[in-house]
Amino acid sequence: MLFCFPGSDAISALAEPVAADSVESLVAWMQAHSIDLCVAGEESYLVQGEGLANLCSKAGIPCWGPPKESAQLEASKEFAKNFLLRNAIPTARASACDSLPEALAAIADEYPTVLKFDGLAAGKGVAVCPDAASAGEFLDAVFTQRRFGDGRVLVEQCLSGPEISVFAAVVDDSYLIFTPARDYKRIGEGDRGPNTGGMGAVASRQLVPPEILAQIDALIVQPTVAGLRREGLPYRGFLYFGIMLTPSGPQVIEYNCRFGDPECQAVMPLVHGDLAGFCLAGAQGQLRPDLLTFDQGWSVCVILASAGYPETSHSGDLIGGLDACGDARVYHSGTRQTAAGQWETNGGRVLAVVAGGTTRATAVERAHAAAGHIHFAGLQRRHDIGILHFT
Ligand code: AMP
Ligand code: GLY
Repeated sequence: MLFCFPGSDAISALAEPVAADSVESLVAWMQAHSIDLCVAGEESYLVQGEGLANLCSKAGIPCWGPPKESAQLEASKEFAKNFLLRNAIPTARASACDSLPEALAAIADEYPTVLKFDGLAAGKGVAVCPDAASAGEFLDAVFTQRRFGDGRVLVEQCLSGPEISVFAAVVDDSYLIFTPARDYKRIGEGDRGPNTGGMGAVASRQLVPPEILAQIDALIVQPTVAGLRREGLPYRGFLYFGIMLTPSGPQVIEYNCRFGDPECQAVMPLVHGDLAGFCLAGAQGQLRPDLLTFDQGWSVCVILASAGYPETSHSGDLIGGLDACGDARVYHSGTRQTAAGQWETNGGRVLAVVAGGTTRATAVERAHAAAGHIHFAGLQRRHDIGILHFT
């Protein structure tokens, strides 16, 4: 049996929603129902209250996802930056600032600059600012309007180069690197316009040359896992490395304590074997690479977003064509079902359409063809997902 929390109309077809209203009541429910394994998906639960994994541990429920103290790697940009520096892992220079004048002093008129709110902000807390006006706007949103709540700002050196997302399944001091992916973060084709939660992804073992992956492993993944151990930060779960391949080598942009979205949707069809068994064994302290195999091909995920995204979103637009996608996978995100059983939009990123192939070209062609069958008023999608490689 599969259960989910908080659940949605679409996931109800696969998993039964749990009637809980907090992490505490969720864990109490899991304990009462002798749940074998909790897979933590979304980051906020890891740091809410005592933390999902911490509560599971007390209740004796194996949890695939790290405890609150380790999830600070995602929840606090400042914590992550200090961890990176302590462990000599390549990353951009940065300073943490408490106020608008302090941040302006740290920028010291060096543009472009990168400003990061030090907390969870659902992908909206980072601004790459080309000039003083855009920096002023972001700092005003943080320090004057308090749009993200209380918190400091990290003023970070702006790096350049292609971005790549690497995931490792970490079990104490061992880990397994999954298929790398690339996220397309900007709303517009050609990587233009504002950042979004991700407009698509491409994944393949062939995406990154083996020598670069080996470098990422040696300079970033291995020292991160060793650093967690040394600093007494327990970790059993997926760890995501957002990496920029700069002219002076790979550097860490961010950690996430989970799989990436939309990278996960692209990577998963390439993973075969017993993933649930892999996560259960991992949560119990055993890394079991023998339970999985990785497809050598390509996978492309195209996101369909609603009108107004990313500034706003539009709900209530009827979705058509869901049955016409052939063997492409369609993952629901911002959708809901009407009383009459029709699907409609219910959020910014509405659906993810995923298809694969042995070559990049076939995966691209199939994913875009399938995405083209779906329609709703105001639909936005990028037509260059999987095609535009590194910019
Ligand atoms: P983050 O939420 O930290 O991943 O940042 C969101 C996006 O901002 C990243 O995917 C990059 O495109 C960009 N970004 C973050 N940090 C930097 C940096 N130091 N230099 C250049 N771009 C960055
Ligand atoms: N794709 C980046 C993230 O999931 O945060």
